[in-house]
Amino acid sequence: SVIHEFKGISQLEKTLEKMLNVEKVIILPGNSAEDGLVLKDMGKITSASLKKIIKDNCIIGITGGNTMASVAEEMIPGKIADNVLVIPARGGLGKDVETQANSIAAKLAQKLGGNYKLLHVPDSLEKEALEVIRKIEDVKESIDFINKMNILVFGIGRADTMAERRNLPKEKIDALTKDGAVAEAFGHYFDIKGREIWEYLTVGLTIEKYKEIDHVIGVAGGEEKAEAIIAVSSLRKKMTIVTDEEAAKKIIEIV
Ligand code: G3H
Repeated sequence: SVIHEFKGISQLEKTLEKMLNVEKVIILPGNSAEDGLVLKDMGKITSASLKKIIKDNCIIGITGGNTMASVAEEMIPGKIADNVLVIPARGGLGKDVETQANSIAAKLAQKLGGNYKLLHVPDSLEKEALEVIRKIEDVKESIDFINKMNILVFGIGRADTMAERRNLPKEKIDALTKDGAVAEAFGHYFDIKGREIWEYLTVGLTIEKYKEIDHVIGVAGGEEKAEAIIAVSSLRKKMTIVTDEEAAKKIIEIV
């Protein structure tokens, strides 16, 4: 019965909250990696959770990827608060992920009747060039907003998949795997214990800042993302994870 299924899911949520040591876990029935409707539902529930915590003058950071695209897509338009600002959590011009973060931020802002600020930083910079770019007034302003972010909504990815999407050289991808990287979130790569293995060189959210943001919602589904979810969950307790049944079951198997 539906009631029984619901009980099953809420039991699974409680189990995962304990296992992952995070404040809240929301699980959608099904497999979002294979079923577009489940991905849509994840977007819907995430956008509804986000709506509940938006206040006047708040700054919302968001990342790229298909999951975040679904969050912006499923957000029901309507102004909930005044002077809301939406920003991409990191920069980047060329690579899909970062470009998408810009358009997702813009779309979300429009739906919320708020403002957005885009972050354009060229990819694959040398450290020295990055230092120079950080001094540009417009980029400085964006970094400032990133550091003042009150809410972050982000996609959790597999390290290998995300490295490929960023067109990293094969040697780099192999090295990441060899070093134990299983997760990627906001441009940082982590091993299963949540230790940072590498950071993609651009402008964006630091781990230190991530730990201080008032509200964070991490979203990812599909069993292949189970390890990535475990890794990212270990970064802080005060967070919400939105996932699906398929990932949840796999996580229980692994932990
Ligand atoms: O950083 C991780 C990505 O946002 C995950 O991307 O939602 O397309 O799997 P995805």
